[in-house]
Amino acid sequence: MKKGAFYVETYGCQMNVADSELVSGILEEAGYAAAADLDSADIILVNTCAIRENPEEKVIQRLMQLALRKRMRPDLILGIIGCVPKHIGPAISESLAGVDLILGPDSYSRLPQLIERSAVEIQIDLGMDPQETFDRHSPKRTSGVNAWITVMRGCDRFCSYCVVPYARGREKCVSCERILDVTARAAAEGHPSITLLGQTVNTYRDGDIDFAALLGKVAQIDGVARVRFTSPHPIDFATEVFEVMARERALCPHIHLPLQSGSDRMLERMNRGYTRAQYLNLVEEIRRIVPNMALSTDVIVGFPEETPGDFQETLNLMREVRFDSAFMFKYSERPKTWACRHLTDDIPDEEKGRRLREVIDLQESISKEIYESYIGREVEVLVEGPARRDPGQVQGKSPDFKTVVLAAGAREIKAGDFVKVRIESATSHTLSGVIPG
Ligand code: 5AD
Ligand code: SF4
Repeated sequence: MKKGAFYVETYGCQMNVADSELVSGILEEAGYAAAADLDSADIILVNTCAIRENPEEKVIQRLMQLALRKRMRPDLILGIIGCVPKHIGPAISESLAGVDLILGPDSYSRLPQLIERSAVEIQIDLGMDPQETFDRHSPKRTSGVNAWITVMRGCDRFCSYCVVPYARGREKCVSCERILDVTARAAAEGHPSITLLGQTVNTYRDGDIDFAALLGKVAQIDGVARVRFTSPHPIDFATEVFEVMARERALCPHIHLPLQSGSDRMLERMNRGYTRAQYLNLVEEIRRIVPNMALSTDVIVGFPEETPGDFQETLNLMREVRFDSAFMFKYSERPKTWACRHLTDDIPDEEKGRRLREVIDLQESISKEIYESYIGREVEVLVEGPARRDPGQVQGKSPDFKTVVLAAGAREIKAGDFVKVRIESATSHTLSGVIPG
């Protein structure tokens, strides 16, 4: 019997992008083919994110929309996979009439069998497997010049606001041998850029090999030109990580260093494990060892009982550190988390919105100054493809992870090319330039 064509729609973080590539790989190994688009798919899988309430709601609405298609095509198989079903639990099937498959993030190996069985009855598999790192499967890479390489899954940190440890389970590392093998293959297949992924990626360990050692080994692989990683936890850095980054050209001078808050009182209640002073010391250490290191961060505003004073401390810290960029979020209370069980979500949404606006405005002005300081400099850009705003131009990344747009000149420039670009203008998110004549 001919197996159907599948389509995976992805929401959430890079980990989910990597998981969707894994799911596509598993399905192709089992004889399923990728559909060209949603309309030609026989199987639609929605890979979901539970980190905040908004994205979770959006994903559920999207599934209800997709379920309407089944009226026209009763043989369509519809699945919800990843963090949302794992977090909500089996009760999700009650709110999602028409969904045939409900799977958590440890169940992907069983997808082919579950798809077959789902033609007969709904399949729900939300079990966790502390051993599962999907070593037997190869992802189908879809992300162009960059390859996402999952080095660890799950999280043991239990920040008080965060669902990840509940939705993805405990931390488990992929073997170093496997990571090096997968990376070498990705590089040979035309991915000069490698991003190592894990929820607290710098706690990586396989026997004697810690994260710094892993970075050193990945950087040495033939064809690997640029290595990044996300997301590390500030308390889990060994100095050796920065030392190897200073030494190895392929290790890009950029670290995403999630802050969350600049107030000690908030950091403690968030269970982040560091103080403001310790975070600042870490930034100082990083900049001492790698002076040109770009830093980005995550910030949450409106955590329970965050006073205007606590919030000012976040702003002050951001002024002091001067991050290159930041992702900023309103606190969103998530069921099961410690904060949800023990604290009252007491900052009104309007006030959260006001603080969010303020922190975004501050970061935009800092980013703009930093980006403008690149004007006149030459940077090496790894081209990723057509520019988002103007397909007549191309865009790519600088080694320190800034988006660079360039008007494709006389020479044909294509994804995967490294080009020297002279920066001529900047906004708070993008550098633009030309190839010096
Ligand atoms: N509310 C708001 N933001 C959150 N994040 C994680 N959980 C929550 C939550 N409940 C943010 C953190 C984290 C990023 C991935 O998402 O800033 O670093
Ligand atoms: Fe969530 Fe904290 Fe783990 Fe990051 S380190 S995934 S914020 S619990």
